[in-house]
Amino acid sequence: MAESGAESGAGMAKVRIWLAGALVALMAAGCTPMDDLLVAVFGRSMREQPSFNPYENPQPPPEGSVPFASGNFPVGPGQVNLGQAEGTPVPAPVQPADMLRALTAPDEVPQVTGLENPLAANEESLERGQVVFERACAPCHGVEGQGDGLVSEVAPVFGVSLMSDQALGLPDGYIYSMIRIGRGAMPALGHQITHYDRWHVVNYVRELQGEVSNEDAPDAESSEN
Ligand code: HEC
Repeated sequence: MAESGAESGAGMAKVRIWLAGALVALMAAGCTPMDDLLVAVFGRSMREQPSFNPYENPQPPPEGSVPFASGNFPVGPGQVNLGQAEGTPVPAPVQPADMLRALTAPDEVPQVTGLENPLAANEESLERGQVVFERACAPCHGVEGQGDGLVSEVAPVFGVSLMSDQALGLPDGYIYSMIRIGRGAMPALGHQITHYDRWHVVNYVRELQGEVSNEDAPDAESSEN
């Protein structure tokens, strides 16, 4: 009895294998013959639907529309991001390791420390810098940059002051790059803050730092060029 049970078990297994094989063969044949069959019987197929195919553009762009650039380098300060004007120098790429090296050997990483601030720290720039700073930086660094932002209350690791001796001594290009690619626990914000807005923020950070009574604070003039 036990033997015949095993035999019929083996028989079932064979049938299952055969069925699986048939199914695979049907799938390999593709859906088209099946579709053709359905069209022959019912006159239509599920394939033809009033839906969009993957990657199909649901609506062509209106005539005369200008595509947005994928980068974050607007034509000029305060302008909509339509991509940079032809020939505008784009800052060279910066790697996380460059940010650390720039602290110990600033001259070896000109792509970080050698960047020149293209925006004068005038009223307009500082105003824009404040808006962006309070949106993007203050949650961690605090409205005054003292490292007492709301996020730092729950996660003190983010409460880094921008008034430390190290922060005061950083070149403008370093702060720009910090916003662009981050460092350590500080996230990269370059995809949210455009090229010119980064420089406005640099000007604003310098302004905040100037308010700290610290003789080592960089001369406010140094960010105006
Ligand atoms: C999510 C929290 C967070 C946000 C938002 C944030 N930072 Fe930071 N920031 C940090 C942390 C944490 C560090 C320290 C990173 C490290 O240890 O390497 C830091 C470091 C820095 C430093 C270097 C300070 C030093 O002494 O070396 C600068 C400059 C800086 N941030 C500027 C900014 C600016 C400008 C913004 C807004 C555009 C900003 N940060 C937004 C968390 C943040």
